[in-house]
Amino acid sequence: MTPEQLLSLLSETWTSWSELCRVTKTPQTELARALRELQVRGFPVIVEEPGARLAPGTPAPQMLLPLLRGKLGRPYRYLGTVPNTQDVLRAWSEAPAGALVLAERQTKGRGRMGRVWESPPGNLYFSLLLGEDVDDLLPLRVGVALVEATQVGHLKWPNDLLAPDGRKLGGILVERAGSRVFLGVGVNVEIAPLPTAAALREFRSVRRATLLADFLWSLESWLSEKSSVVFAAWKKHSITLGRRVVIQTARERIEGLALDLGPNGELLISTEWGLRRVTTGDVELGAAQDVEDPQIGQGQA
Ligand code: BTN
Repeated sequence: MTPEQLLSLLSETWTSWSELCRVTKTPQTELARALRELQVRGFPVIVEEPGARLAPGTPAPQMLLPLLRGKLGRPYRYLGTVPNTQDVLRAWSEAPAGALVLAERQTKGRGRMGRVWESPPGNLYFSLLLGEDVDDLLPLRVGVALVEATQVGHLKWPNDLLAPDGRKLGGILVERAGSRVFLGVGVNVEIAPLPTAAALREFRSVRRATLLADFLWSLESWLSEKSSVVFAAWKKHSITLGRRVVIQTARERIEGLALDLGPNGELLISTEWGLRRVTTGDVELGAAQDVEDPQIGQGQA
């Protein structure tokens, strides 16, 4: 009996020692050792006098798979501590589109623009493999699915989920290798790892497995939605448009008024030198302002 097999037997309610011994045909001392190993590897297994159980909301396969309503999320690799789920998914060479890797903790979580994504236990960290059929609006589609699933906060261009008070709740990372698209999502569910971050738990109580299943189901429909509907939904949740922004790109700093989105999801900014189209960068939000600019109207509905 491997620790993984033992993990697959657990649920959120106690399984007694006697039951575990009976089912696995293993002595309690050996079970206790395997459970300890699972804990050391980062799995949220609770071991006490009555027996063993999973922490509430744990997205172990036996908890997550029954909640999945669509194609996304299968096959599923559920891991304890890993460097990061993006690299695990990249290394999974035979993974088909829809494959999901989730880790309980990342030691080298990757954020956008070379940043570190702090990944303590209690949050959601996962990577989903998508096929080449995704379009340039993918970050917007994912953002809408995420804000719908969390039911909290707003979207900051290009793809940050912010709490109502502006602290960061979640982030989206899109990486590509040939025709494979690796979508990485991190959501602070229980723990805000930085002073500038928020945890979803501050706003509503949420079970990670349910949140993940809701997100995958929502994403599946947003992936096939026509672009005009995606733009409208993203704008409904946006706190970017109509604000003064400072954008740091790899090459320059652009200041202006965020007017609209362009046809490929780029941000259209009115600057003192004219209209700029920004495809990537870090946005700092300033004051809201009425968008009454003669250049508006070039974006999407
Ligand atoms: C951002 O900078 O806002 C994007 C953060 C993306 C973090 C997620 S967590 C799961 C996946 N693995 C990683 O290393 N990064 C992404």
